[in-house]
Amino acid sequence: MITKEDGQSLIDLAKEARKNAYAPYSKFPVGAALRTKTGRIFTGVNIENSAYPDGTCAERVAVFKAISEGERAFEVISVVTDNGGSPCGACRQVLSEFGLDTVVLIADGKGKLLKTMTVGELLPEAFGPRNLKERR
Ligand code: THU
Repeated sequence: MITKEDGQSLIDLAKEARKNAYAPYSKFPVGAALRTKTGRIFTGVNIENSAYPDGTCAERVAVFKAISEGERAFEVISVVTDNGGSPCGACRQVLSEFGLDTVVLIADGKGKLLKTMTVGELLPEAFGPRNLKERR
């Protein structure tokens, strides 16, 4: 369970991090803040590239920072965009690898919470680690 206050402070962190987004091509800055089950918080921003496909989303930056610091159990991630857009398919897939119960808080540029969903709700029938174990 995430309290309203905890959720809002995670959104505020994503909003603040979003200022560091490197999005000169899309001009669509995104900020994310991921809280692990141990209580650590990792922020992320989208990082674009002049070779367009090499850019990366904010959510994945936050996840990869956490994984590289030894954290794999996630509780909640907040995502802030101008218009309250929800995570792209690739980010849903990457998040799903580490748990379908991770809560996703979707907020707009003012930091207003618009939607609360789980990764499992965002990516039904996800392909995951168990699919590789059930090979016949
Ligand atoms: N973007 C994210 O950072 N997260 C998403 O879930 C959707 C899209 C970024 C990628 C690109 O830098 C910009 O937003 C426009 O697509």
